[in-house]
Amino acid sequence: MKNLLHAASVSLAVAMLLLAGLGSTQAQPVGTDTGPGQAAVASAHYLATEAGQEIMAAGGNAFDAAVAISAALAVVEPASSGLGGGGFWLLHRASDKLRVMVDGREVAPLAATADMFLDANGEVNRELAVNGPLAAGIPGHIAAIAHIAEKYGQLTLARNLQPAIRLATQGFPVDEKYHALMRYRAEVIRRWPAASKTLLVAGEVPELGTMIKQPDLARTLQMVATQGRDAFYRGEFAQHLVAGVRAAGGIWTEADLAAYAIKERVPISFSYQGRQIVTAPPPSSGGVALAEILNIIEPYSIGSMDRTVQVHLLTEAMRRAYRDRGIYLGDPEFVDMPIRQLISRDYAAGLRASIRLDRATDSDALAGFQDSPKGMDTTHFSVLDKDGNMVAATLTVNLPYGSAFMAPDTGFLLNNEMDDFSAKPGAPNAFGLLGFTANAIAPGKRMLSSMTPSFVFGDDRQAALGTPGGSRIITMVLLGILDMIAGNEPQSWVSLPRFHHQYRPDLISIEPDAFSPELISQLQAMGHTVEARDSTWGNMHGVLWKYADNQVSAASDPRWPSGRAVVKPAAD
Ligand code: DON
Repeated sequence: MKNLLHAASVSLAVAMLLLAGLGSTQAQPVGTDTGPGQAAVASAHYLATEAGQEIMAAGGNAFDAAVAISAALAVVEPASSGLGGGGFWLLHRASDKLRVMVDGREVAPLAATADMFLDANGEVNRELAVNGPLAAGIPGHIAAIAHIAEKYGQLTLARNLQPAIRLATQGFPVDEKYHALMRYRAEVIRRWPAASKTLLVAGEVPELGTMIKQPDLARTLQMVATQGRDAFYRGEFAQHLVAGVRAAGGIWTEADLAAYAIKERVPISFSYQGRQIVTAPPPSSGGVALAEILNIIEPYSIGSMDRTVQVHLLTEAMRRAYRDRGIYLGDPEFVDMPIRQLISRDYAAGLRASIRLDRATDSDALAGFQDSPKGMDTTHFSVLDKDGNMVAATLTVNLPYGSAFMAPDTGFLLNNEMDDFSAKPGAPNAFGLLGFTANAIAPGKRMLSSMTPSFVFGDDRQAALGTPGGSRIITMVLLGILDMIAGNEPQSWVSLPRFHHQYRPDLISIEPDAFSPELISQLQAMGHTVEARDSTWGNMHGVLWKYADNQVSAASDPRWPSGRAVVKPAAD
């Protein structure tokens, strides 16, 4: 019934818009005033998707759902995100078209120094940079979701945290991702009793289907639900957390937690072939790099060209954008960045002029410098509510299970986001990314990210998408956006075979079987090196609302079976 009523009100709105638009040649947005009347959630875990649906059915909007999903993912996907990590939440409020990014990125502790990961020979100690509490930045997850609930939600933080508290108390079954990533990290997890007790079974990787209950995490979440975000960042809990970190060799102080603040940032926004792309600004490199790439390729009919030339042009655009990422980008509070220039069409025209259509550019021929593991940790979700509000959020603890360190009684792992800084100019991090002074470690500074939660708006549609995948996030979002603009549905964006170039190493890496043997040899003949990886990467989740027929669709990446996308009529 509700749907029929909704359809009727949409047609009325359409008729009114048509009347209002008489004599105008401008296409009119249709249906945006009324909202789709349906809600969509796509996330990396079915229990988190259910948490989002539960909250919207209880009267919450997309922002409440985002809080519930973020908290639920922190419980059921400890490899990927959590209370000890951070992320970027991109919000679109339909009522006034407000678009804002809530930056809950970790910051370096106040006692951090530029050379804190260098050994006596000046080499980066990779062990310290990724394992244990020294690798952890001050977490922003709780501060961000509390802010979103308070400022944008309709329900209380406590209500939004309920599904997560239930999941932490009652447990969830170990899935393939938990299992696979834990096999890779168990040796480090075993070093810390709280982590081992919570996430392993008698010190061993739990079997598929084992129920993981997290009573300490349930207690911490319940504390935040009852007392608010300050209970996490100040007072007794903060003292205990800091004591645990320091006892294990970390350098956090209570002042670090007390000083943590989220930032509301103006997104990077630009147009590409008549669509508005709204995406992550620094301290993520994603939006700037995406703008650079799309500006470079805009004059070409990229969708309809020969596949070899298409891959070649995209690769050359990726190469140039990743070079600039490494040279210029960092925390806007610490670094002056030529953002306006980097995302300008004139700058892109200069870069385009340096691309030969028949030949690969040697990365060495461009002044300046980067590799990467697979995109399995970190997480992304996309939400659309019945009113047209949207959230695209990418959250992380960095590498699988973060630093693997858990302070006693707290229930959550700390991130190893400090490795997203450049520990030494030109030395690669876990993703093979090289950085220089713009991304050097400094007290209170946010480490440069590649996370790229994004929206696309057109006259006839709006969409949200994003993915984990370290340095490859940006190129995955790029390919997804191009597929969307070609008119395809979310299922297609999230399933596309992926390829990636990040300037250094100078090669196109591809998912298994992403390119035909002919395509590979044609690219090689142009001077490209093509490297097929032995596994896929990424875990993309997207939602789409097409105004004309009020069609809402959503999809979760088929690469990981626990993901779930659901579209539902709004609850009556
Ligand atoms: O912020 C970043 O760019 C990284 N910490 C994200 C890590 C990630 O996506 C890991 N997944 N493969």
